[in-house]
Amino acid sequence: MNEFEGKVAVVTGGGSGIGRGIALGLAAEGMALAIADVNTASAEAVVAEIAEQGGRAIGVSVDVTAPEALAAAAKEVEAQLGGVNLLCANAGVLARIAPLSEHSIEDWEYTLSVNVLGVVKTVNAFLPLLRARAPDAHVVNTASLGGLIATEGFPIGAYIASKYACVGYSEMLRAELAPEGIGVSVLCPGVVASSLVDTSTSNRPDGFGSQLAPRLGIVNPSADRPAPTISAMPAEEVGPIVVRAVRENRLHVITHPDSRGVVERRFAQINADYDFAASSEG
Ligand SMILES: NC(=O)c1ccc[n+]([C@@H]2O[C@H](COP(=O)([O-])OP(=O)(O)OC[C@H]3O[C@@H](n4cnc5c(N)ncnc54)[C@H](O)[C@@H]3O)[C@@H](O)[C@H]2O)c1
Repeated sequence: MNEFEGKVAVVTGGGSGIGRGIALGLAAEGMALAIADVNTASAEAVVAEIAEQGGRAIGVSVDVTAPEALAAAAKEVEAQLGGVNLLCANAGVLARIAPLSEHSIEDWEYTLSVNVLGVVKTVNAFLPLLRARAPDAHVVNTASLGGLIATEGFPIGAYIASKYACVGYSEMLRAELAPEGIGVSVLCPGVVASSLVDTSTSNRPDGFGSQLAPRLGIVNPSADRPAPTISAMPAEEVGPIVVRAVRENRLHVITHPDSRGVVERRFAQINADYDFAASSEG
Protein backbone atom coordinates (compact mmCIF):
# COMPACT_ATOMS: atom_id res chain seq x y z
CA MET A 1 0.00 0.00 0.00
CA ASN A 2 1.63 3.21 -1.16
CA GLU A 3 -1.07 5.83 -0.93
CA PHE A 4 -2.71 6.58 2.42
CA GLU A 5 -4.69 9.73 1.59
CA GLY A 6 -8.45 9.12 1.72
CA LYS A 7 -8.11 5.49 2.80
CA VAL A 8 -9.43 3.86 5.96
CA ALA A 9 -7.55 2.32 8.89
CA VAL A 10 -8.74 0.47 11.99
CA VAL A 11 -6.50 0.48 15.06
CA THR A 12 -7.41 -1.80 17.97
CA GLY A 13 -6.11 -0.58 21.29
CA GLY A 14 -6.13 2.79 19.55
CA GLY A 15 -7.15 4.66 22.68
CA SER A 16 -3.73 4.65 24.31
CA GLY A 17 0.02 4.30 23.89
CA ILE A 18 1.31 2.73 20.69
CA GLY A 19 -2.19 2.42 19.17
CA ARG A 20 -2.76 6.13 19.66
CA GLY A 21 0.68 6.86 18.19
CA ILE A 22 -0.08 4.73 15.11
CA ALA A 23 -3.50 6.35 14.71
CA LEU A 24 -2.07 9.89 14.85
CA GLY A 25 0.61 8.94 12.32
CA LEU A 26 -1.97 7.49 9.91
CA ALA A 27 -4.31 10.47 10.35
CA ALA A 28 -1.42 12.77 9.48
CA GLU A 29 -1.14 10.86 6.18
CA GLY A 30 -4.79 11.67 5.41
CA MET A 31 -6.38 8.36 6.42
CA ALA A 32 -9.80 8.13 8.08
CA LEU A 33 -9.46 6.26 11.36
CA ALA A 34 -11.58 3.86 13.38
CA ILE A 35 -10.25 3.92 16.92
CA ALA A 36 -11.31 0.57 18.38
CA ASP A 37 -10.81 0.01 22.07
CA VAL A 38 -12.44 -1.74 25.01
CA ASN A 39 -12.03 1.59 26.82
CA THR A 40 -14.60 3.76 25.04
CA ALA A 41 -13.59 7.00 26.78
CA SER A 42 -9.96 6.72 25.73
CA ALA A 43 -10.99 5.87 22.14
CA GLU A 44 -13.22 8.97 22.04
CA ALA A 45 -10.37 11.12 23.38
CA VAL A 46 -8.16 10.05 20.47
CA VAL A 47 -11.05 10.64 18.04
CA ALA A 48 -11.30 14.20 19.40
CA GLU A 49 -7.53 14.68 19.14
CA ILE A 50 -7.58 13.62 15.47
CA ALA A 51 -10.59 15.86 14.76
CA GLU A 52 -8.79 18.81 16.38
CA GLN A 53 -5.92 18.23 13.96
CA GLY A 54 -8.34 18.33 11.02
CA GLY A 55 -8.58 14.57 10.53
CA ARG A 56 -11.51 12.18 10.35
CA ALA A 57 -12.04 9.48 12.98
CA ILE A 58 -14.76 7.45 14.67
CA GLY A 59 -14.62 5.58 17.98
CA VAL A 60 -15.63 1.93 18.09
CA SER A 61 -16.19 0.18 21.38
CA VAL A 62 -14.88 -3.38 21.08
CA ASP A 63 -13.30 -6.15 23.11
CA VAL A 64 -10.95 -8.06 20.78
CA THR A 65 -11.56 -11.31 22.66
CA ALA A 66 -15.24 -11.29 21.57
CA PRO A 67 -15.92 -12.36 17.94
CA GLU A 68 -19.52 -11.02 17.98
CA ALA A 69 -18.30 -7.60 19.10
CA LEU A 70 -15.63 -7.65 16.38
CA ALA A 71 -18.21 -8.59 13.74
CA ALA A 72 -20.39 -5.67 14.89
CA ALA A 73 -17.34 -3.38 14.83
CA ALA A 74 -16.52 -4.41 11.25
CA LYS A 75 -20.12 -3.64 10.19
CA GLU A 76 -20.00 -0.27 11.94
CA VAL A 77 -16.71 0.70 10.29
CA GLU A 78 -17.99 -0.35 6.87
CA ALA A 79 -21.22 1.60 7.36
CA GLN A 80 -19.50 4.76 8.62
CA LEU A 81 -16.22 4.82 6.73
CA GLY A 82 -17.05 2.68 3.68
CA GLY A 83 -14.50 -0.12 4.07
CA VAL A 84 -11.03 -0.91 5.45
CA ASN A 85 -7.60 -0.68 3.80
CA LEU A 86 -5.33 -1.00 6.80
CA LEU A 87 -5.94 -3.09 9.91
CA CYS A 88 -3.68 -2.57 12.92
CA ALA A 89 -4.35 -5.40 15.39
CA ASN A 90 -2.55 -3.70 18.23
CA ALA A 91 -4.51 -4.31 21.46
CA GLY A 92 -2.41 -6.25 23.95
CA VAL A 93 -1.88 -6.90 27.63
CA LEU A 94 0.95 -7.58 30.03
CA ALA A 95 -0.69 -9.73 32.69
CA ARG A 96 2.22 -10.61 34.97
CA ILE A 97 5.71 -9.39 35.75
CA ALA A 98 7.18 -12.26 37.73
CA PRO A 99 9.09 -15.50 37.11
CA LEU A 100 7.18 -18.21 35.25
CA SER A 101 6.82 -20.24 38.43
CA GLU A 102 4.70 -17.36 39.73
CA HIS A 103 2.47 -17.08 36.64
CA SER A 104 -1.00 -18.51 37.28
CA ILE A 105 -2.94 -20.34 34.58
CA GLU A 106 -5.30 -17.33 34.59
CA ASP A 107 -2.30 -15.09 33.77
CA TRP A 108 -1.60 -17.32 30.77
CA GLU A 109 -5.24 -17.41 29.69
CA TYR A 110 -5.63 -13.63 29.92
CA THR A 111 -2.37 -13.03 28.03
CA LEU A 112 -3.09 -15.51 25.25
CA SER A 113 -6.76 -14.48 24.92
CA VAL A 114 -5.80 -10.90 24.01
CA ASN A 115 -2.27 -11.09 22.56
CA VAL A 116 -2.77 -14.18 20.40
CA LEU A 117 -6.44 -15.07 19.95
CA GLY A 118 -7.42 -11.38 20.07
CA VAL A 119 -5.17 -10.71 17.08
CA VAL A 120 -6.46 -13.80 15.23
CA LYS A 121 -10.12 -12.87 15.89
CA THR A 122 -9.49 -9.27 14.82
CA VAL A 123 -7.93 -10.35 11.54
CA ASN A 124 -10.73 -12.88 10.91
CA ALA A 125 -13.38 -10.21 11.49
CA PHE A 126 -11.85 -7.61 9.18
CA LEU A 127 -10.37 -9.85 6.46
CA PRO A 128 -13.48 -9.76 4.23
CA LEU A 129 -13.31 -5.94 4.20
CA LEU A 130 -9.57 -5.99 3.46
CA ARG A 131 -10.09 -8.51 0.64
CA ALA A 132 -12.64 -6.15 -0.90
CA ARG A 133 -9.92 -3.46 -1.06
CA ALA A 134 -6.96 -5.61 -2.18
CA PRO A 135 -4.36 -4.79 -3.42
CA ASP A 136 -4.83 -1.58 -1.42
CA ALA A 137 -4.92 -3.60 1.76
CA HIS A 138 -2.49 -4.26 4.60
CA VAL A 139 -2.42 -5.80 8.09
CA VAL A 140 -0.07 -4.71 10.88
CA ASN A 141 -0.12 -6.95 13.95
CA THR A 142 1.57 -5.58 17.05
CA ALA A 143 3.90 -8.14 18.60
CA SER A 144 7.01 -6.88 20.41
CA LEU A 145 10.78 -6.99 20.38
CA GLY A 146 9.88 -9.67 22.93
CA GLY A 147 8.50 -11.68 20.00
CA LEU A 148 12.00 -11.89 18.53
CA ILE A 149 14.08 -12.39 21.67
CA ALA A 150 13.32 -13.72 25.17
CA THR A 151 14.31 -11.09 27.72
CA GLU A 152 15.79 -13.33 30.39
CA GLY A 153 16.46 -10.39 32.67
CA PHE A 154 12.87 -9.13 32.61
CA PRO A 155 10.41 -11.77 33.90
CA ILE A 156 7.45 -11.59 31.53
CA GLY A 157 7.38 -15.18 30.28
CA ALA A 158 3.72 -15.48 29.26
CA TYR A 159 3.96 -12.17 27.43
CA ILE A 160 7.10 -13.29 25.56
CA ALA A 161 5.47 -16.60 24.55
CA SER A 162 2.38 -14.73 23.32
CA LYS A 163 4.48 -12.34 21.24
CA TYR A 164 6.50 -15.19 19.68
CA ALA A 165 3.11 -16.66 18.71
CA CYS A 166 2.04 -13.33 17.22
CA VAL A 167 5.22 -13.17 15.13
CA GLY A 168 4.74 -16.76 13.88
CA TYR A 169 1.08 -16.13 13.08
CA SER A 170 1.94 -12.92 11.20
CA GLU A 171 4.69 -14.60 9.15
CA MET A 172 2.25 -17.35 8.10
CA LEU A 173 -0.48 -14.81 7.37
CA ARG A 174 1.90 -12.79 5.18
CA ALA A 175 2.74 -15.85 3.09
CA GLU A 176 -0.92 -16.82 2.74
CA LEU A 177 -2.26 -13.35 1.86
CA ALA A 178 0.56 -12.28 -0.47
CA PRO A 179 -1.03 -13.97 -3.53
CA GLU A 180 -4.17 -11.91 -2.87
CA GLY A 181 -2.16 -8.67 -2.87
CA ILE A 182 -2.65 -8.08 0.87
CA GLY A 183 0.50 -7.10 2.78
CA VAL A 184 1.19 -8.22 6.34
CA SER A 185 3.70 -6.70 8.75
CA VAL A 186 4.45 -7.42 12.37
CA LEU A 187 5.38 -4.50 14.59
CA CYS A 188 8.12 -5.41 17.06
CA PRO A 189 8.55 -2.38 19.32
CA GLY A 190 11.19 -2.00 21.97
CA VAL A 191 10.19 -0.03 25.05
CA VAL A 192 7.64 2.68 24.21
CA ALA A 193 5.98 5.04 26.68
CA SER A 194 2.46 3.71 27.32
CA SER A 195 -0.05 2.69 29.97
CA LEU A 196 0.35 -1.06 29.43
CA VAL A 197 0.67 -2.13 33.07
CA ASP A 198 -2.24 0.07 34.16
CA THR A 199 -4.66 -0.84 31.33
CA SER A 200 -3.78 -4.55 31.59
CA THR A 201 -4.90 -4.38 35.21
CA SER A 202 -7.97 -2.15 34.79
CA ASN A 203 -9.26 -4.05 31.69
CA ARG A 204 -8.68 -7.51 33.20
CA PRO A 205 -12.05 -9.30 33.09
CA ASP A 206 -13.47 -11.34 35.97
CA GLY A 207 -12.50 -14.98 35.63
CA PHE A 208 -8.91 -14.24 34.63
CA GLY A 209 -7.62 -13.88 38.19
CA SER A 210 -6.17 -10.63 39.44
CA GLN A 211 -2.99 -8.74 38.83
CA LEU A 212 -0.67 -8.89 41.79
CA ALA A 213 1.48 -5.84 42.46
CA PRO A 214 3.75 -5.98 39.44
CA ARG A 215 7.33 -6.87 40.21
CA LEU A 216 9.07 -4.33 38.08
CA GLY A 217 12.80 -4.53 37.83
CA ILE A 218 15.51 -6.49 36.18
CA VAL A 219 16.55 -9.88 37.54
CA ASN A 220 19.72 -11.76 36.73
CA PRO A 221 21.04 -9.78 33.77
CA SER A 222 24.20 -11.32 32.39
CA ALA A 223 26.93 -10.31 29.97
CA ASP A 224 25.61 -12.85 27.43
CA ARG A 225 21.96 -11.92 27.72
CA PRO A 226 21.78 -8.34 28.96
CA ALA A 227 18.48 -6.77 29.94
CA PRO A 228 16.86 -4.57 27.29
CA THR A 229 17.59 -0.89 27.37
CA ILE A 230 14.85 0.83 29.37
CA SER A 231 14.58 4.20 27.67
CA ALA A 232 11.04 4.65 26.44
CA MET A 233 10.39 5.99 22.96
CA PRO A 234 7.48 8.47 22.78
CA ALA A 235 4.46 6.64 21.26
CA GLU A 236 4.03 9.41 18.66
CA GLU A 237 7.31 8.31 17.07
CA VAL A 238 5.87 4.87 16.26
CA GLY A 239 3.29 6.21 13.78
CA PRO A 240 5.75 7.40 11.10
CA ILE A 241 7.78 4.18 11.52
CA VAL A 242 4.66 2.12 10.76
CA VAL A 243 3.73 4.34 7.79
CA ARG A 244 7.18 3.87 6.23
CA ALA A 245 7.17 0.10 6.84
CA VAL A 246 3.67 -0.37 5.35
CA ARG A 247 4.70 1.63 2.27
CA GLU A 248 7.65 -0.70 1.77
CA ASN A 249 5.69 -3.82 2.83
CA ARG A 250 8.34 -4.74 5.43
CA LEU A 251 7.76 -7.96 7.34
CA HIS A 252 9.22 -7.02 10.74
CA VAL A 253 8.68 -3.41 11.76
CA ILE A 254 11.58 -2.48 14.03
CA THR A 255 11.29 0.63 16.18
CA HIS A 256 14.62 0.34 17.99
CA PRO A 257 17.44 -0.45 15.51
CA ASP A 258 19.87 -0.49 18.46
CA SER A 259 18.24 -3.75 19.64
CA ARG A 260 19.88 -5.65 16.76
CA GLY A 261 22.65 -7.00 19.00
CA VAL A 262 20.37 -8.97 21.33
CA VAL A 263 18.47 -10.47 18.38
CA GLU A 264 21.75 -11.38 16.67
CA ARG A 265 22.81 -13.21 19.83
CA ARG A 266 19.69 -15.39 19.50
CA PHE A 267 20.52 -16.15 15.86
CA ALA A 268 24.11 -16.92 16.89
CA GLN A 269 22.80 -19.40 19.47
CA ILE A 270 20.62 -21.12 16.85
CA ASN A 271 23.59 -21.25 14.44
CA ALA A 272 25.81 -22.69 17.17
CA ASP A 273 23.23 -25.40 17.83
CA TYR A 274 23.15 -26.20 14.09
CA ASP A 275 26.97 -26.41 14.12
CA PHE A 276 26.75 -28.74 17.10
CA ALA A 277 24.19 -30.96 15.32
CA ALA A 278 26.32 -31.03 12.16
CA SER A 279 29.49 -31.82 14.14
CA SER A 280 27.85 -34.90 15.69
CA GLU A 281 26.75 -36.29 12.30
CA GLY A 282 28.67 -39.27 10.93
N1 LIG B 1 4.77 -0.15 25.42
C1 LIG B 1 5.75 -0.95 25.08
O1 LIG B 1 6.92 -0.79 25.48
C2 LIG B 1 5.45 -2.10 24.15
C3 LIG B 1 6.56 -2.79 23.59
C4 LIG B 1 6.31 -3.82 22.72
C5 LIG B 1 5.01 -4.15 22.38
N2 LIG B 1 3.96 -3.48 22.93
C6 LIG B 1 2.62 -3.85 22.51
O2 LIG B 1 1.97 -2.70 21.99
C7 LIG B 1 0.56 -2.90 22.05
C8 LIG B 1 -0.09 -1.65 22.65
O3 LIG B 1 0.29 -1.56 24.01
P1 LIG B 1 0.74 -0.20 24.71
O4 LIG B 1 2.07 -0.45 25.30
O5 LIG B 1 0.53 0.94 23.82
O6 LIG B 1 -0.25 -0.19 25.96
P2 LIG B 1 -1.50 0.74 26.33
O7 LIG B 1 -2.05 0.11 27.57
O8 LIG B 1 -1.10 2.16 26.40
O9 LIG B 1 -2.52 0.49 25.13
C9 LIG B 1 -3.21 -0.72 25.00
C10 LIG B 1 -4.63 -0.42 24.59
O10 LIG B 1 -5.29 -1.67 24.30
C11 LIG B 1 -6.59 -1.63 24.86
N3 LIG B 1 -7.04 -3.00 25.12
C12 LIG B 1 -6.57 -3.88 26.03
N4 LIG B 1 -7.28 -5.01 25.98
C13 LIG B 1 -8.20 -4.85 25.00
C14 LIG B 1 -9.21 -5.68 24.48
N5 LIG B 1 -9.44 -6.91 24.98
N6 LIG B 1 -9.97 -5.22 23.46
C15 LIG B 1 -9.77 -3.98 22.96
N7 LIG B 1 -8.83 -3.13 23.43
C16 LIG B 1 -8.06 -3.57 24.44
C17 LIG B 1 -6.42 -0.82 26.15
O11 LIG B 1 -7.66 -0.31 26.63
C18 LIG B 1 -5.44 0.26 25.71
O12 LIG B 1 -6.12 1.39 25.21
C19 LIG B 1 0.34 -4.16 22.86
O13 LIG B 1 0.10 -5.25 21.98
C20 LIG B 1 1.67 -4.35 23.57
O14 LIG B 1 1.90 -5.68 23.92
C21 LIG B 1 4.15 -2.46 23.81
